Amino acid sequence: MSDHTISKNKIRKLPISLSNQIAAGEVVERPASILKELIENSIDSGANQIRIDIQQAGLEKISVTDNGCGIPANELHLAVSPHATSKIYSQEQLGHINTLGFRGEALASIASVSKFEITSKVAEDDTAWRLDYSNKNKSSYDEQDVNNLKLTPMAHPIGTTVTANKIFYNTPARKKYLRTERTEYLHVERVIKQLILSDFNSAFVFIHNEREVYRFQQALDQSAQARRILKICGKSFYDNSVTLNFKASGMTLTGWLATSHYSRASADTQYFYINGRIIRDRVIFHAIRLAFQDKIPEGRYVAYVLYLTIGTEFIDVNVHPTKHEVRFDDMRLVHDFLTHVITQALNSNSFNDDNNIKEQRDDVDLVSEIKPNYYTASKTKENESSKETSNKLPQVFFGTVLTIFKQRYALTEHQSDIKLIDIKQAQSYLTALNLMEQLTNKLIQSKPLMIPVSITLEQKQIDVIDNKICFLNELGIELTVTGLNSLLLRTIPVALTGIDYITLFKNIAIFLLDSATTEIKISNLIPVLCHADLIDNHNINFDYALALVTNLNKLDKTLLLSHDINWWQLLSIDDFERLLNDKR
Ligand SMILES: Nc1ncnc2c1ncn2[C@@H]1O[C@H](COP(=O)(O)OP(=O)(O)OP(=O)(O)O)[C@@H](O)[C@H]1O
Ligand SMILES: [Mg+2]
Repeated sequence: MSDHTISKNKIRKLPISLSNQIAAGEVVERPASILKELIENSIDSGANQIRIDIQQAGLEKISVTDNGCGIPANELHLAVSPHATSKIYSQEQLGHINTLGFRGEALASIASVSKFEITSKVAEDDTAWRLDYSNKNKSSYDEQDVNNLKLTPMAHPIGTTVTANKIFYNTPARKKYLRTERTEYLHVERVIKQLILSDFNSAFVFIHNEREVYRFQQALDQSAQARRILKICGKSFYDNSVTLNFKASGMTLTGWLATSHYSRASADTQYFYINGRIIRDRVIFHAIRLAFQDKIPEGRYVAYVLYLTIGTEFIDVNVHPTKHEVRFDDMRLVHDFLTHVITQALNSNSFNDDNNIKEQRDDVDLVSEIKPNYYTASKTKENESSKETSNKLPQVFFGTVLTIFKQRYALTEHQSDIKLIDIKQAQSYLTALNLMEQLTNKLIQSKPLMIPVSITLEQKQIDVIDNKICFLNELGIELTVTGLNSLLLRTIPVALTGIDYITLFKNIAIFLLDSATTEIKISNLIPVLCHADLIDNHNINFDYALALVTNLNKLDKTLLLSHDINWWQLLSIDDFERLLNDKR
């Protein structure tokens, strides 16, 4: 019996004016689409136990039982009639849909193409009632016929069982379009996985041909949810993913995101939910993919299970009959929110999870190589000139990491050289080089900030920024000077998102003032960006240092030496010996 009491609104026929505004179209194509509708009805009914039992991939039998609120006997006929719903009654409610269903169409469509039965019990009634709709022979709805059907008392706990047998038995033309049992089962499995991941509040049992495929308890705490993810998406995905929990601009994004070390050959592990509804949307794919930049190779797919929560007034779900798509009031805001959050999540985890790579399965997963896409010496004239002198300098090569200390510094060893690296500054340096490379190739990736940031500076600093606004635009920075001492930062290069913008702009202003009379060389900006604090100390560990040094080792050494930035120091054996000899 249900351990919760849910009161349900009455099912009513939608006024024609309203039903005409609902995205029309076929929702029952195959067993998987029937299952989706039935399970969504169960979720909407407030159930927390859902049992799915099918035969032959659903072609022979589909049955879904829940412990939700049930349907009163006097509403059962209405439940199977077209345009009858308890979920919306008015135009106004159409703009604030917070249930999965709202068209009042699904049961009518399913009933018309299958041998259909619905049994339900509400808490107020002593018995359950069954409406047997399986002996009709017409595929179109006939109100008179349906109303003549008698209800039969049954034994059934509070809740509902809907059974749809022999799909399309009365519409041979549609039956022809069904594929092999195996293909239909793949569709079914995908839908079941989507729905199981959509509702942690419900326990699910899924039975196929009398064999139990899935059994999940309610997953109300994090570890139960993690177990569900692990079972449905696989250990490899789970091991390589980070969890997200982010709120801003009235939106929340939570879930699991595989880092760039894990990708898939198909989009089979892309689950994106908006207010609990599975959504397929190109703009959303794009926003997520953008955050990965080129870290996932062409032809591979990122993997995620993400849940976006947004006020129902900001989206329109009445766009497509299958309810797989939504329209956003402010598409751009949502796009940028997603890219921003995911970029941040990836930045703060980009190195920490390197040790997980070893655990990946080779058959389906791909370890994406971290590309040495940093600025290379051959690209600018400035570097040509530094080549001559560089030959005289000692070879810079960081070798391997010996240890890290104070969560900030790394000691590396190569041949007989020991080097000391400031990890934070080295990371900023790499980011700066990356940005410079994008700039040289005119491929700066920048993004609008979700909430523009107001920055207060000295008047002369604001003046110089105002004068050099075109230069900053080239860098992917967009801002508006809002007063003698203030500016509003609107857009920032993706590589710099999430850093301390105030310090960054102070440094930029100082740099611009220093070079006010001379031509600005973009490469001179590198030291400025190097002082930008890109990572938190607590994200630094040995693996982080190892991955960072691997990337540093890929850098062009001439270039490295041409930049006068002290984020590393050579401690030669000669120095050590001198030091020790002096002491003797
Ligand atoms: N499992 C269930 N438990 C309780 N009520 C249900 C269940 N299934 C259907 N109903 C009731 O029957 C009505 C009709 O269901 P149906 O799926 O046809 O339409 P809907 O869910 O309102 O909209 P949609 O067509 O978008 O799914 C629902 O509005 C709901 O009141
Ligand atoms: Mg429905």
